[in-house]
Amino acid sequence: MADTPWWRHAVIYQVYVRSFADSDGDGMGDLPGVRSRLGYIADLGVDAIWLNPFYPSPQADAGYDVADYRDVEPTFGTLADFDALVDGAHRLGLRVIVDLVPNHTSDEHPWFRAALAAAPGSAERARYLFREGRGPGCDLPPNDWQSVFGGPAWARVFEPDGSGGQWFLHLFAPEQPDLDWTNDEVRAEFESILRFWLDRGVDGFRIDVAHGLAKDPDMPDIVAGQQTSGPARAGHPHWDRDEVHEVFRQWRRVTDSYDRDVAFVAEAWVETPAQLARYLRPDELHTAFNFEFLLAPWDAAGLRAAIDSSIQALAEVGAPPTWVLSNHDVVRHVTRYGGGDLGLRRARAAALLMLALPGGAYVYQGEELGLPQVIDLPDDVLQDPTFFRTGGVERGRDGCRVPLPWSGEEPPFGFGPSPAPGATVGHPWLPQPAEWAGLTAARQATAPDSMLTLYRQALRLRRSLAEEGAMTGPLEWIDVGSGPIAGDVLAFRRGTGFACVVNLGEEPADTPADLALGARVLLASGDVGDDGRIQGSTAIWYGSDRL
Ligand code: GLC
Repeated sequence: MADTPWWRHAVIYQVYVRSFADSDGDGMGDLPGVRSRLGYIADLGVDAIWLNPFYPSPQADAGYDVADYRDVEPTFGTLADFDALVDGAHRLGLRVIVDLVPNHTSDEHPWFRAALAAAPGSAERARYLFREGRGPGCDLPPNDWQSVFGGPAWARVFEPDGSGGQWFLHLFAPEQPDLDWTNDEVRAEFESILRFWLDRGVDGFRIDVAHGLAKDPDMPDIVAGQQTSGPARAGHPHWDRDEVHEVFRQWRRVTDSYDRDVAFVAEAWVETPAQLARYLRPDELHTAFNFEFLLAPWDAAGLRAAIDSSIQALAEVGAPPTWVLSNHDVVRHVTRYGGGDLGLRRARAAALLMLALPGGAYVYQGEELGLPQVIDLPDDVLQDPTFFRTGGVERGRDGCRVPLPWSGEEPPFGFGPSPAPGATVGHPWLPQPAEWAGLTAARQATAPDSMLTLYRQALRLRRSLAEEGAMTGPLEWIDVGSGPIAGDVLAFRRGTGFACVVNLGEEPADTPADLALGARVLLASGDVGDDGRIQGSTAIWYGSDRL
């Protein structure tokens, strides 16, 4: 393991900065807050952190609308706070990944302001995707593309005299105009932004909407069968086009010129693992989130297919798989898997499954506490543009972004200083459910059966087993026999000293015959019966010299 680059097997903790820890009591998390809790993250046993965007931004999309790529939003701190955070993380052996948002800027970015002030056809407008409208008076958008957040993907510019001007493309909110990646200035600027953060010591970049940078220059309508969001099919006019790969080759040359292991992780929503693998060719990006795994329902056959197809497709380009169960864009998996006690038991088993697979993995803050999606946030606190752009039809993603409960019996649960009695300011930017008193990190830290204890045990064991060479081999499925209950069981070994068995059904299942001899339970996500059977919704890690 020692000479393998860290990113091939790292577990990376996703820090959603707004909701992690609030050091100054404004109700919003910040970089000093993250720094103050680095000990907790290191103690969890992960290898790195990924920070969601903390750059200056009007926050039209929670920071994914960047107004300045080389600074820190004052609400989140300063560049000096960032440097101190990186230094503190490195001292604890944690690497730091930052979020790069190349598909679009904020509408308050100086480039976009200059574009609006300049004339059609100008160099300023050429950095974005301005086009003439269609129809009489050019009153219709240039094509039928839809925003991922709902509504048309085009907004019109109005000239100072009130007359309608050109339209600009925004695949997300109108406050997020898309850049034109055929423009040399755009390419040079992002190369320089990469170097800016690399020179400040970061260890990697998460690439936002990596599959979206290239657009068909003819801007045709979407053909039947294609869709705006969701996985991209071949031939799509703005998702997963061949031209994006040249951008990533250029970036790879930048990171390769540094004399340390720097890693990219792509957010690329594509339809198949084979498409994803194209982003991970040896001269492109290092890793990419495995959304196939995240999207798979709680079903043995479906999960096994997602695991197999990902491992195979990525092996062809020599890239490691990178597993993920939750992030700031999707419903938290305790809730996705059924919610309540069932969802929690399944999420516990899923954690052991994910952390036993070959490759790397991401842990989204709060999943180690078993946090569910908050599904009853009142309308007037919601901030996600999806909620507004769909006229409230979609509630949006705020329910997975509620600030973490750290300690205490009532909100803000140690997320930040408690507001003075009766104060209207200083409350967490999204309200925390009162019942999260039972889920605080402080309470779980000392409870032997808590989710936090399970994650800590699993991550430590994963690290020590890898060091011993017991958990480094390729995945090899173990025969689980046949029959209705066996069909709910996933069992695999990694090399000769480690195996993982997951019973996804609700009935107890027999231990696979292959394992019975000499295997001892290292860790279980639920009760282990005396009869050697595996309870429903339970995963077990086994160790043995003879597995
Ligand atoms: C990515 C981010 C998401 C954001 C979108 C637009 O999908 O994860 O949070 O809204 O890109 O930048």
